[in-house]
Amino acid sequence: MSKTLIIGASGQIGKMTIKLLLENQHNVVALVRDKEKLSDLNSPHLTIVERDLESDFSDAFEGCNQVIFAAGSGGNTGADKTLLIDLWAAKKAASYAKQYQIEHFVMISSIGADNPDAVEGDIKPYLVAKHMADQHLINQGVPYTILRPGTLTNEPGSQLISTRYPNDSDKAKISRENVANALYTIATNTFKRNRIISLFNGEQAIPKALS
Ligand SMILES: NC(=O)c1ccc[n+]([C@@H]2O[C@H](COP(=O)([O-])OP(=O)(O)OC[C@H]3O[C@@H](n4cnc5c(N)ncnc54)[C@H](OP(=O)(O)O)[C@@H]3O)[C@@H](O)[C@H]2O)c1
Repeated sequence: MSKTLIIGASGQIGKMTIKLLLENQHNVVALVRDKEKLSDLNSPHLTIVERDLESDFSDAFEGCNQVIFAAGSGGNTGADKTLLIDLWAAKKAASYAKQYQIEHFVMISSIGADNPDAVEGDIKPYLVAKHMADQHLINQGVPYTILRPGTLTNEPGSQLISTRYPNDSDKAKISRENVANALYTIATNTFKRNRIISLFNGEQAIPKALS
């Protein structure tokens, strides 16, 4: 039976994804640093493990065959957390995935992580962190799907996405709900692995856009 470890389970996208998986009777291991943040979730399919990503969290991988990395340092922390979470914790997760022979690792990366040099400003160190974490995952040999969403918004999900960068850069956005539905679709289908997929709000149904 499939079991998916969600890292960053108390985050906005992480929690939406867990709810989708549990509603459809999938087994989930939710890694959080404060289990109270999931106190509203009650399911026989849910196991919660309390771990801090700045420590060793390898034991959370035991018995799982799929991993979703949905953690992030957030916009209100400094360069230290960008290094420790977006780079180092993501890198450790990819290494643990290899150690535990995980069958599929889904990484939430970011638009712009392919080429951080194309961007100047405060976002660049974050994009470098994301780039290096993605590269480390690719190098592990663990089957992966790397998702690179545009700017995240909190509008309701349209269930319609695009995997192509829009002509108008102001439209390079996607709702967190659409990202969660894309994660759910990828985690529950056997689409081709080892792909890097950009994600924006768009006009295609999610399964069709991702298949
Ligand atoms: N913002 C954007 O426009 C944008 C664009 C592209 C990609 N992304 C990426 O999208 C992903 C998810 O975004 P989101 O908005 O859902 O994120 P979010 O709500 O900020 O969630 C971040 C998660 O990471 C967890 N976390 C952070 N430090 C941790 C630690 N030391 N130990 C354990 N957990 C830790 C948080 O736990 P707590 O609840 O305990 O804090 C939370 O569960 C991130 O990878 C982000 O980089 C963002």
